[in-house]
Amino acid sequence: MRSVLLAAGFLALTSALQCDIQNAIERIDCLPERNSNEQRCHERGCCWKTRQDGDPHVNFPYCFYPRDYSGYVISNQTQDRHGATVYLQRQQPSHSAQDIGVLRVEVRSYSNQIVRIRIVDPHNQRWEPPYPAIPPPSSRIDSPIFDFEITQDSRLEVRRFDGDQGDNHKVKLVSLNLGTMIYTDRFIQVTSLLPSNVVYGLGEHHGSLRRSMDYSRFTFYNEDQPPVENKRLYGTQPFYINLESDGRANGMWLLNSNAMDILLQPAPAITYRPTGGVLDFFIFAGPSPADVVKQYQDIVGRPKMIPYWSLGFHLCRYGYKSTEDTRRTLQRNLDAGVRIDVQWNDIDYMDKFNGFTLDPENYSDLGKLADELHKDGRHYVMIVDPAVSGSETPGSYPPYDRGLEQNVFVKTAKGRIVEGRVWNLGTSVFPDFTHPNATIYWTELFRDFHKRVAYDGAWIDMNEPSNGIDGHNDDNSCRSDQDMPYVPGDVYLHKRTICTSDVHHLSSHYNVHNLYAYAEAISTYKALTAVAPNKRPFIISRSTFSGQGFYSGHWTGDIYSNWGNLKDSISGILDFSFYGIPMVGADICGFLQDTTTELCARWQALGAFYPFSRNHNNIQAKDQDPAALGETVLKPTRNAFYWRYKLLPYLYTLFYGAHMDGETVARPLFFEYPEDPKTYDNDRQFMWGRALMVVPALFENQKIITGYFPKGIWYDLQNRTGTVDATSGGKYVDLPADMDYIHFFMKGGNAVFFQEPGNTTTDSRKSPFGLYVFLDDGVASGRVFLDDGESIDSITSGEFDVVHAMATKDILVVSNRSQMKSFYNLDEVHVYGIKSQPKEIFIDRAEFIDFVYDEQRQLLTMNNLNHDMTLMTVSFVY
Ligand code: NOJ
Repeated sequence: MRSVLLAAGFLALTSALQCDIQNAIERIDCLPERNSNEQRCHERGCCWKTRQDGDPHVNFPYCFYPRDYSGYVISNQTQDRHGATVYLQRQQPSHSAQDIGVLRVEVRSYSNQIVRIRIVDPHNQRWEPPYPAIPPPSSRIDSPIFDFEITQDSRLEVRRFDGDQGDNHKVKLVSLNLGTMIYTDRFIQVTSLLPSNVVYGLGEHHGSLRRSMDYSRFTFYNEDQPPVENKRLYGTQPFYINLESDGRANGMWLLNSNAMDILLQPAPAITYRPTGGVLDFFIFAGPSPADVVKQYQDIVGRPKMIPYWSLGFHLCRYGYKSTEDTRRTLQRNLDAGVRIDVQWNDIDYMDKFNGFTLDPENYSDLGKLADELHKDGRHYVMIVDPAVSGSETPGSYPPYDRGLEQNVFVKTAKGRIVEGRVWNLGTSVFPDFTHPNATIYWTELFRDFHKRVAYDGAWIDMNEPSNGIDGHNDDNSCRSDQDMPYVPGDVYLHKRTICTSDVHHLSSHYNVHNLYAYAEAISTYKALTAVAPNKRPFIISRSTFSGQGFYSGHWTGDIYSNWGNLKDSISGILDFSFYGIPMVGADICGFLQDTTTELCARWQALGAFYPFSRNHNNIQAKDQDPAALGETVLKPTRNAFYWRYKLLPYLYTLFYGAHMDGETVARPLFFEYPEDPKTYDNDRQFMWGRALMVVPALFENQKIITGYFPKGIWYDLQNRTGTVDATSGGKYVDLPADMDYIHFFMKGGNAVFFQEPGNTTTDSRKSPFGLYVFLDDGVASGRVFLDDGESIDSITSGEFDVVHAMATKDILVVSNRSQMKSFYNLDEVHVYGIKSQPKEIFIDRAEFIDFVYDEQRQLLTMNNLNHDMTLMTVSFVY
């Protein structure tokens, strides 16, 4: 690493405070704890200024650090080829709590694009999360695109070289202010300047995709909380993407599992306030948004491959009355022509809401339903809650008895098993998934239950972990949060969960709370592989931590059946694509409260384009399966899912790209068009890969959708409104908001494989292939990934094919570039953007005559090809 280290020296404390920070929005909060006041502020050696008339910002800090504040100063530094080690010494007390007097800052190149900065206590081992497992640094760091510097005013800066802008052009990606850092046992604060005010990520938080910089605060402590703005939610994903003024991007992730706040301020700056652990930052130099996300996944892990069937439509609700009721609902939708691949059941199937049991009256024949589904090429998924009943007669409920024997339940600080209350009628106890016996225990339960119901996947819910009471059932031994110097989000930590003082094998609940779901996902993944060896586990989890996409997908929880949540579902799913959790969806038609026919019609259409597409409903809400709501909902459902199913080979290939290379599946427009600022705030549209853009209707009574079309040519596959030609620059186009279909457009330059859909993905996979070619300036390319759709090792054992298509207006070549070269039949090709009718067409030199040219649509269609996809060359002669 190229580096410049300047000794900061010890700055003499001046008696006159330097409070003249020119740009007020750059002030760093010196008194982030509750009850800020002028006297306490001055005691800290900080400046106090209240809000002036006309100041646009409300939440800025009144108490802020003076310019020359040096809480920590550099006492010693060494450097080598890959980084530097710097010791910091506390110079004046923060007055926040007992300061850690000496800190070690380790700066290390991790790859040519990634830097890691750790700030640790050299004398005491502090808590650090064991997940996700962090790989070692790359062994080949030969041309880093960044350097770093510690400036005289104690800032640690990471800068990216942008060579094309001149040799010395560097962008400061990160500028950590070490002088004003607070570092105590249970409260840490550090601020960094950002290159621009365009920030995404920092989930799980509800609202617009782009984050507000107006002193906004994001709290991370996983909570069972219906998604609303400014609240802690189910997951912890402290990773951001920052888009710079020229469309380049950088990002940063904090590896820390403690409760924390992260704040954005208009400087632009970001402040981290974890309440424990260490500061362990990874900085990703990009320079494209897609690069940042790939680099992030190089560290946290890429998602495992999903089973093909999981890309079908899933039907679910809380409140099916019986197996028969479930079956009836499924059947009425099938009868109405809705394609469904997967039927789900919620906690209704359980006896007394106890996990791993069946309600003997209404669900004793559930296993039969799963078998019927399998016979028809469908699949079955059921809910699993982590907490099991703690109140059954000894010897009658193995999940409790076995857990006791294997000692896997979370304990109180006094060594008793923690008793809370989830769905179980009595008490609930919580498996400790960090315990070495937990996976064995969990696997045994999964295996035994699978003998009764042959489920195909696990829906892991309530795993924040959620608890119906705050803390414990039977005592008030929760350690109070009052003795924390700082409480993130001002919400006590045992709200709707267990106590911070509870004890897991690895550490206190205080430290591992945010990892609960991650640990459960690991055990569940292993349990599913034991139940069905060599099948890819399918897991959807409500709670998540960084890197969990390796094991599970996610759904966005208990959203409301209203128009605002329909719209916000887009940012909800795009957000998770940043985190390497591409298998994500929102409850179609909404979960809480009754949906309406119009809302559900729009939602079914939009939900057909969620990577994970499931209609799910609450027990109190009226039926919202498409058939229950009639033709208004059924028409757009049939339509949109026809297209989803038809394009599944493309969607599946995107998941292959996610698994292999950390690509995104659903992605925001700015990912493809980072240089177009009109895309930065657009979270009303989104893309599947680079080839397909969805332009949905999102408002009640909507008649017109004003869609934004970035530069390029956009083909209308459904032939509703025609091609949108934006080749000379991005433009807005008004589209009719008809109720019975959803708009999506295909981007010129892409070749997309498809299969005519059957009733299920199992059927569709038997259809011959087709190919759409969308020419842009006469060229297009694309690929399709093909395998058996379910083996866990199809990629590692080389049992897959990747077929490429490359086209110009004169020639199309389809070629299988894999080892396997299996036989796949290509039966039709549709080329969009051919400007005049070819006189002749040759396939592999033989003349082909079965084609049609539509001059108005500039569309050439070739049918009945019946050609092997191993190698095919088509020549167009004009
Ligand atoms: C909460 C989940 O978020 C919801 O989807 C589910 O229906 C209920 N738990 C009942 O299990």
